[in-house]
Amino acid sequence: MIEAYLEKNVHLLPQTNQLRALHTIVRDRDASREDFVFYSERIIRLLVEAGLDLLPFEPQDVTTPVGATYNGLRFAEKIVGVPIIRAGESMESGLRAVCRGVRIGKILIQRDKETKLPKLYYRNLPRDIASRHVLLLDPMLATGGTANAAIQVLLDEGVLEENIVFITVITVPEGIAAVCERFPRIRIVTSAIEERLNDNAYMLPGIGDFGDRFFGTD
Ligand code: URA
Repeated sequence: MIEAYLEKNVHLLPQTNQLRALHTIVRDRDASREDFVFYSERIIRLLVEAGLDLLPFEPQDVTTPVGATYNGLRFAEKIVGVPIIRAGESMESGLRAVCRGVRIGKILIQRDKETKLPKLYYRNLPRDIASRHVLLLDPMLATGGTANAAIQVLLDEGVLEENIVFITVITVPEGIAAVCERFPRIRIVTSAIEERLNDNAYMLPGIGDFGDRFFGTD
């Protein structure tokens, strides 16, 4: 089944030498925080560009300085970025860097200490979100529990499933399956698919706790 999801739902960035070199820096347990932030932001920039490429475009012609016509394109629809607090906020500046004036919503989901289930603590989304394409941002798609809860929040707000692009730095087959089984029209953009989850739900070979490493709270 995972093969079907990989074909239909997942856009994996081309595994170029450059991308692997960036991953080599950020996955190194001895990377400095400055390097971790700088190089993970470079990966995030590539992911956001790839995510934007999945959105609809419409034709737009312009006249060039030499009086000729360039048959171009422009974005067809409005977008909004929605980072899942906290790790997703690491992706906000990468989105702002390529989408001038982009609207940003927020969703905070955390695992309930008693039920162990993901629980929505906070959301702040543009009123017209139902008419927008959503770039949902979380650098880690591991078990899929948080991602599924966040996607459900968006659907409850009227966003169409096919209008959601989930952008994540690293994922695993378990996470992809959990999300795509429940939301078969979602699209996922990622830069790496790991081997598996360990017993503590960390990805292997993985990157450790992305939020702690990015925000310096480990
Ligand atoms: N969250 C992380 O930060 N890292 C993982 O490997 C899994 C979830």
